[in-house]
Amino acid sequence: MATVHVPILVRPILETLLEAFREHSAQSTGCLTEPVWLVDCTLGGGGHTAAFLDAFEKDPLLRETKVVAFDQDKTAIESARMRFATEITAGRLEIIQSRFSDAEPFLRNRLVLGLMADLGFSSDQLEDPSRGLSFLADGPLDMRLDPSQGTSCRDYLADISETELERVLREYGEERFSRRIAARVIEYRNREGAPATTQVLRTLVVQAIPPAMRHGRIHAATRTFQALRIAVNRELEELDCLLDHVILSLRPRGRVAILSFHSLEDRRVKHAFRSEGFRSLTKKPIIADNEEIARNPRARSAKLRVAERISAKGA
Ligand SMILES: C[S@@+](CC[C@H](N)C(=O)[O-])C[C@H]1O[C@@H](n2cnc3c(N)ncnc32)[C@H](O)[C@@H]1O
Repeated sequence: MATVHVPILVRPILETLLEAFREHSAQSTGCLTEPVWLVDCTLGGGGHTAAFLDAFEKDPLLRETKVVAFDQDKTAIESARMRFATEITAGRLEIIQSRFSDAEPFLRNRLVLGLMADLGFSSDQLEDPSRGLSFLADGPLDMRLDPSQGTSCRDYLADISETELERVLREYGEERFSRRIAARVIEYRNREGAPATTQVLRTLVVQAIPPAMRHGRIHAATRTFQALRIAVNRELEELDCLLDHVILSLRPRGRVAILSFHSLEDRRVKHAFRSEGFRSLTKKPIIADNEEIARNPRARSAKLRVAERISAKGA
């Protein structure tokens, strides 16, 4: 399936990560060197990976640089294997189905000088109704980015207590009507069983919100769907694995770029990039300009932070 996902902030990501490779290449001219790797932790539709491969091919100093790309989603992996068949055969790209929490062993013994992650979900996943990620289409209430792992959103709601659901909606969705929504969902579950479809959940959320507050800037169900997606996919635990373990595969002077989409993610990235062994290269996050936002509304909430590895402590 062709991707509909539009990659975000491609130019600043390329510019900053390629600098680490150029510096390494300038220092190792004339020596026999091992391959250097760029890691794309979130392959998705392959937008950033394609940009890296293109840049490496065009730059005579970087022709030997390789990309290894991960995604937990089997469908994304299969599409990318078709899209990038030539690059895979040429040994320029390796594609691995893995979550952040399982990725570390695949990176041992590679000279990693660049690493990126574009967090969350792709437009391909959002627009596939069978995933249950969007309240705009009817589909099973699943929400898993890797349906072979964990529990679906419906099963998650079947087991959760009202207090815990209220907490998830408040903390992960910053939903001000968390208590009313949790009460409405549990009341429905007690009568009919856990909501089975996106449209049932959407209706419950709208019913729980006071009528005067139902028509805000964003749809009334946006925050609930975000909160449940984060919980079902254990997104914050996965991000912690990325920040505590996976980025340690970078060699000193290597760079990491992370695109996040809400404050819970950005706060963690900011903190990790200020920790021992790293130097933040972005005091304030880089954001998309108006032209990019007009072309790709999803870019509106993107925040890019970049850091350099300054020591191998913790490796
Ligand atoms: C925003 S999309 C990436 C889009 C990609 N950069 C592009 O331009 O086409 C995020 C991707 O990361 C994947 N993903 C999210 N969390 C992950 C995790 N913990 N481990 C592995 N992949 C993950 C999702 O399945 C999704 O395909």
